[in-house]
Order: sequence, then C-alpha cells, then structure tokens
Amino acid sequence: MERTFIMVKPNGVARGLVGEVVARFERRGFTLRGMKALRIDRALAEQHYAEHIGKPFFEDLAAFITSGPVVAMVWEGREAITTARTMMGVTDSALAAPGTIRGDYSLSKEENVVHGSDGPESAAREIGLFFDEAELV
Ligand code: RTP
Ligand code: MG
Repeated sequence: MERTFIMVKPNGVARGLVGEVVARFERRGFTLRGMKALRIDRALAEQHYAEHIGKPFFEDLAAFITSGPVVAMVWEGREAITTARTMMGVTDSALAAPGTIRGDYSLSKEENVVHGSDGPESAAREIGLFFDEAELV
C-alpha cells in the first residue's frame, strides 16, 4: 500500500469543494490516514513548493497558496500517487479531462483546486512537512 499527500487549495476550500474531493477518494477505495485544515504561511509555502522557487510563476503561486485555509490529507491505497494524479487531471485545468477534479471544477492553470504528490519522494517529504507521525492513523 502506498500513501500520497493531497491538499484542497484555498480556492477549493472557499468554493465548498472539500466534500467533493474527499468523496471521490473515498469512493475510489482509498483510506483516509490524516486530515487537517490549516493556513499555509510563507515559510511552509517555500518548503512545500521548493522545486518551484525562482520560476516565473513562483510569487503568484506562493501568494495563492497562502491566501486562505487549505485542507491537507494523507490517503492510502494501491498505486495511490499515480492514481490520485490521474483523478486530479493535468495542471492546467482548461486542459484537464472531464471527470477529473480539475476538469470538473476549474478552468484555471493556477487556481486548480487540488494538489497531489508527483512521486514517492515528494509524497514522503510532503506528508512529513504537514503531519507528525502521531497525527496519522
Ligand atoms: P501541484 O504541485 O499543485 O499539485 O500541481 P502540479 O504538480 O500539477 O503542477 P506543478 O508543475 O507542480 O506546479 C505547481 C503549481 O504551480 C502553478 N503553476 N503555474 N503559470 C504557470 O505556468 C504555472 N505553472 C504551474 C499551478 O498552480 C500548479 O498547480
Ligand atoms: Mg506539483
């Protein structure tokens, strides 16, 4: 079994889409191991999106991800990382397939509703960034 880090971004929380996102992972058969609402500060944004520091879109990305509460989650299941990325759709929501989270709930490349880990190393790193081991059930 594999674990992945999933986060409903500030626009998803503001639009009341937390339940929609959670329901999709539940129905797919994943097990929820951790969940919390929090406000990301600048330091955590730089850690979480460290790979993007210095890119042209980083300042907009940091401003967006710190703009309001997010809901951070750890989901466990078979091939969780790849499957979650497939369920989310591609980064630019306008290009994301209908039936995916981004393809159903967004037209934006930046405000694309959800984050999901893109590989085993980032999953482990991101889970550790947002959760203590004792917070995972
Ligand atoms: P995420 O990390 O948020 O799950 O998204 P992702 O893997 O699909 O995309 P990634 O390349 O990691 O980019 C992280 C976030 O940065 C914003 N972005 N903007 N304007 C742009 O060209 C651009 N490129 C990326 C998006 O909000 C993306 O989700
Ligand atoms: Mg990414």
